[in-house]
Amino acid sequence: MTDPSTQYVQWFRQSSPYINAHRDKTFVIMFEGDAILDPNFTHIVQDIALLSSLGVRLVLVHGARPQIDGLLEHWQIRSQFHRDLRITDPMALTAVQAAVGMVKSDIEARLSVGLPNSPMHGARIRVISGNFVMAKPLGVIDGVDFQHTGEVRRIDHQAIKTLLDQRHIVLLSCMGYSPAGDMFNLAVEDVATQAAIDLKADKLIILGNHSGLHNEQGDTLPELTCAQLEQQQHHYSGEMRAHADASLRAIRRGVARVHLLSHSDNGALLQELFTREGRGTLISQQAYDHLRAANIEDVAGILQLLAPLEEQGILVRRSRELLEQEIQRFYVIERDGLITACAALYPYSAEQAELACVAVHPDYRGSDRGQQLLQQIEKEARQRHFQQLFVLTTRTAHWFIERGFVAGDVAELPQERQKLYNFQRNSKVFFKAL
Ligand SMILES: CC(C)(COP(=O)(O)OP(=O)(O)OC[C@H]1O[C@@H](n2cnc3c(N)ncnc32)[C@H](O)[C@@H]1OP(=O)(O)O)[C@@H](O)C(=O)NCCC(=O)NCCS
Repeated sequence: MTDPSTQYVQWFRQSSPYINAHRDKTFVIMFEGDAILDPNFTHIVQDIALLSSLGVRLVLVHGARPQIDGLLEHWQIRSQFHRDLRITDPMALTAVQAAVGMVKSDIEARLSVGLPNSPMHGARIRVISGNFVMAKPLGVIDGVDFQHTGEVRRIDHQAIKTLLDQRHIVLLSCMGYSPAGDMFNLAVEDVATQAAIDLKADKLIILGNHSGLHNEQGDTLPELTCAQLEQQQHHYSGEMRAHADASLRAIRRGVARVHLLSHSDNGALLQELFTREGRGTLISQQAYDHLRAANIEDVAGILQLLAPLEEQGILVRRSRELLEQEIQRFYVIERDGLITACAALYPYSAEQAELACVAVHPDYRGSDRGQQLLQQIEKEARQRHFQQLFVLTTRTAHWFIERGFVAGDVAELPQERQKLYNFQRNSKVFFKAL
């Protein structure tokens, strides 16, 4: 059995690619007022503080539904609803103001904890809230005036971005203001979705009463594409439906990923963000794996993927500077912000190009990723009118042979590449006609 300290070291190492992938990314985290009442909220706040310490740009969006209901009950006022939406009359608006104020100060207080014996010691988090949400009245529907129930008109994303640049956490509520100075009670999903869209957030994370979206047997679905969710959206009702609708809206308008998690599951946020298995439901724009041309932001991820292979002598070492210069030659496969595979195409002459740096993360091998990258590189090479692809390898000869490469001689390589050939390394050379 591995002892706890070894397990800890392993866990920490396994998290490091995710730490790099999430740094400087913008996450919008939404939760309803009942999350704040849950005993697990203390852990959520600690995990939010940890994310902030790791360089994630965070916008929190809170609701206050149970708190509003509690106040109205206390004041013996019965809220009116139409089409499941609260009609916010002046008395209800007073309750909304009071409840939102209470929840906001509760969150601010919890994020201020910095006691030496708490996990947040030294975190020093600044939470900023303000009039960032512009709203408009919902108006009259079926002849019913919704009064101070509103919808988001616009989010002041510039102001929020400036605060995120300064490393503050921005806190939004389910209240918005109109240019005429009116206040509106908003659906928290509406605020969170619009904020994620306008901020071009990398993730929208929705914490709810469920561990994500379920199938008919009640099991949590770990991942869904937008198209899959569209097909089964009508199966859901209540909160799950609201979260499914919000997810689809965010994804369709450009948010790359939405995560649905339970607010009462201790550690769900960290497991979802820092482990391969995840913990809730991930909804993404395209199929989960995304093969695409690499860009400069992928350099860290590619270096991380190549480093162990370079150490084992399977691949030739490449410096960060070189990789930055040559990044446009690379293709990557990305999975939830993690580079799981890469390959590159290096032109050498009008006819010949090298297939280089083919690497698949050990956890993801044997699922066709290598093959997909090879096909992509071959496609590009054909489009660019190369006639032959060649590859140098020490340990992977058969993988290439099984994919149509034929053994050849160093002398058949382009002159320029021959000069770079390392005789000590003694790589085998393979060619494939295109
Ligand atoms: C070679 C590599 C890119 C394949 O990636 P992959 O995504 O697992 O590839 P695929 O899923 O398309 O293919 C898997 C098949 O390749 C086989 N394979 C994997 N490594 C192999 C090797 N070194 N030699 C021969 N076959 C190999 C697997 O056994 C599997 O075969 P099976 O389906 O019959 O079981 C990956 O193993 C890797 O990154 N290796 C280390 C880096 C490397 O050697 N790169 C090439 C240097 S130029």
